[in-house]
Amino acid sequence: MVLSTGLSKFKAAVFISGTGSNLKSLIRFSKTKKSPISISLIVTNNSKAKGLDFANTYKIKKKIYNFKKKKLAEKKILLELKKNKIQIICLAGFMKILSKSFINNFKGKILNIHPSLLPKYKGLNTHQRALDKKEKYSGCTVHYVTSKLDSGKIILQTQVKIDKKDTPKSLAKKILKQEHKLYPKALLKIFSL
Ligand code: GRF
Repeated sequence: MVLSTGLSKFKAAVFISGTGSNLKSLIRFSKTKKSPISISLIVTNNSKAKGLDFANTYKIKKKIYNFKKKKLAEKKILLELKKNKIQIICLAGFMKILSKSFINNFKGKILNIHPSLLPKYKGLNTHQRALDKKEKYSGCTVHYVTSKLDSGKIILQTQVKIDKKDTPKSLAKKILKQEHKLYPKALLKIFSL
């Protein structure tokens, strides 16, 4: 994906709703020399998101939007993204579904991480569903965001073996650990094309 030329890093915004462990791994990655991105904005729909602490720790601008008025929230976000010259959006545990028109405004420049081997187990409760189906493997996927939930082009996946004793919680933990490695790898992949 070529977004612009020049030696500086691409400006990214990360959207979160909760703990923000993927955000943390992306911030740490963004500070390495090899990272194609720098993170200049953190967006959330949840004023209590624990991940917002990382905005303070790493001195990154954060913005909170009320999605009860989704259209208005998206309009404000788009303005903020423009203001900050954001070139790429990384969704990382962002629990709101963005509208088609928002996505079209950033066509091909929104990524998401999902805790399953897509196209399997789109949506919520992925770990429970994978366990119920007695899958031998699950994993995580970084993909482009389109208006169809968890269905955009896959960039990278990592498989994780499911053990007999795994619970949704233990599986989530194992997968999350891989997510932290996968997102940076996916960014390196798309920017080296
Ligand atoms: C991750 O498992 C992500 O794949 C899913 O929500 C979780 C977010 O975790 N969409 P965190 O907020 O990055 O810790």
